Amino acid sequence: MNLKDLYLDFFESKGHKRIPSAPVVPENDPSVLFNTAGMQPLIPYLMGQPHPYGKRLCSVQKCMRTVDLDEVGDKTHHTFFEMLGNWSLGDYFKTESIEWSFEFLTKVLKIPTKRLAVTVFAGNELLPFDQETHDKWLSLGISEDRIAPTKDDNFWIAGEVGPCGTDSEIFYFRSDDEIPDKFDPEDDRWVEIWNNVFMQYNKTIDNKLTDLPNKNVDTGMGVERVVAILEGVNDNYLSSIWKDVIDKICEISNLSYEGNEYSMRIVADHIRTAVFIASDPSGIKPSNTDQGYILRRLIRRAIRHAKQLNIDINSNWEEEIAKIIIDKYKKYYTELDENASVALNVLKDEKNKFSRTLEKGLREFEKVSRNNKDIDATDAFHLYDTYGFPIELTEELAKEKGLKVDIEGFKIKFKEHQELSRTASAGKFKGGLAGNSEIETKYHTATHLLNAALKIVVGPDTHQRGSNITSERMRFDFNCDHKLTDEEKNRVEELVNKWIDERLDVTVTKMKKEDALKSGAECMFIEKYPDIVTVYSIGDISKELCGGPHVKNTSELGHFKIKKEEASSAGIRRIKAILQ
Ligand code: ALA
Repeated sequence: MNLKDLYLDFFESKGHKRIPSAPVVPENDPSVLFNTAGMQPLIPYLMGQPHPYGKRLCSVQKCMRTVDLDEVGDKTHHTFFEMLGNWSLGDYFKTESIEWSFEFLTKVLKIPTKRLAVTVFAGNELLPFDQETHDKWLSLGISEDRIAPTKDDNFWIAGEVGPCGTDSEIFYFRSDDEIPDKFDPEDDRWVEIWNNVFMQYNKTIDNKLTDLPNKNVDTGMGVERVVAILEGVNDNYLSSIWKDVIDKICEISNLSYEGNEYSMRIVADHIRTAVFIASDPSGIKPSNTDQGYILRRLIRRAIRHAKQLNIDINSNWEEEIAKIIIDKYKKYYTELDENASVALNVLKDEKNKFSRTLEKGLREFEKVSRNNKDIDATDAFHLYDTYGFPIELTEELAKEKGLKVDIEGFKIKFKEHQELSRTASAGKFKGGLAGNSEIETKYHTATHLLNAALKIVVGPDTHQRGSNITSERMRFDFNCDHKLTDEEKNRVEELVNKWIDERLDVTVTKMKKEDALKSGAECMFIEKYPDIVTVYSIGDISKELCGGPHVKNTSELGHFKIKKEEASSAGIRRIKAILQ
């Protein structure tokens, strides 16, 4: 049986309910581009909201850490990975969590205790040493020498604010060397395999820790790392997870893995991640902003490395690889099967676009980098604008020749271009080419208007349950026990368009969360917001806690039109709408 099934079966036997993976693009959290941990979709529940499946949950979650994108190519990095997790929402705490981790590792996976070591929280100015966790490990047979107290590495939070707590990380000795008696967490022969976080605090924007309503447990174990360990390989790409993908790349390129590892790992990893993003229910397409830009970078970098491997990039190589990935994972993620043709088309379209300019772009790069000349901003921008080279690709090409790229100068040119063409962005440049485009900003504001209209037409207890915005459309989920009638839909459209015609000002204020709530401001997950919140008001028809951005006046929105109204899940309806 494979690791995922063993894990989920084990935690089910301990009273946990298996929950499906959330989409890789978070549904209700605009602060991150992708889910980076299994706990992310569970934040509202860790903050105290009851979960419909109860207090013990387990899952395998689709995760992405884009910070690692440029690291991919070595033995251990991946952009996409699967995280196994089990959670207690105010149920069990440290004792059971540690006992079950130990039982799973030593009894189910049969890892010898002598290969294991742990870290525990050492204590700092705010919180004491985690004696309880230390003693629990000791009682299970982990020797004192194998329990290392650390300060900074044993406190876990996703981002800056939200649920958090001290943690205990479990390490495995991945080497043929003799196992040292004393555990040194800095010795990289010890690799972290599992993290148990004891989430009992909420960190607020002013850096304070307050108690959460419940003491929770959040754990995370990386599938690719543990599978590699269990199979005794020291290159993740040699494990059974990747073998058929790598074999296929060898077959297509007519090359062996040995000697071509770097490009083969990049092709394998990036095509897998692109398949997962492109088949996600969020409907992301390659673009120059946010998630779409990451998708574009992944596909274009994979194409460039396929070319390095002498693969004919106009052949169906990407489809052959993608199909293996879809077949392998569809059992766990049905959307891969349902959206297979969408994902294959995304890959093909992007490949067709880029393959037209890649050859010429590479020649241009050789020209501008002649005599080992660093790449200036004008050339970097030209490569981007004319040949579709993401700046990171130019940087990678330069690095291979030991050259530098004027990234700051490129950013300035990029911004100038944006302002000139007035196509993208409210002026943001968050790493890469991310940013909220003008149209996405409009959709944000239209979302608030739609929310207000539904409260009038359907009833005051109607609330937002999710939203997702792309440059093409807005999607809005709300609670409602019936399919909207044509009359209701017309009425909603009329109201939104009336408010657009009324040229209402959109204003923003900061206030205390409790004051905002008292004033009747609408919000989705109140626990998730810091003590001081941003409230956007539109005339006197809408007031919502929101991070923005928004237009200044509703007259900027154009004409609002509902394209589709459908069921999303039990008791939840979904509207897709556009601005014309
Ligand atoms: N959320 C914890 C982590 O990602 C378990 O390490």
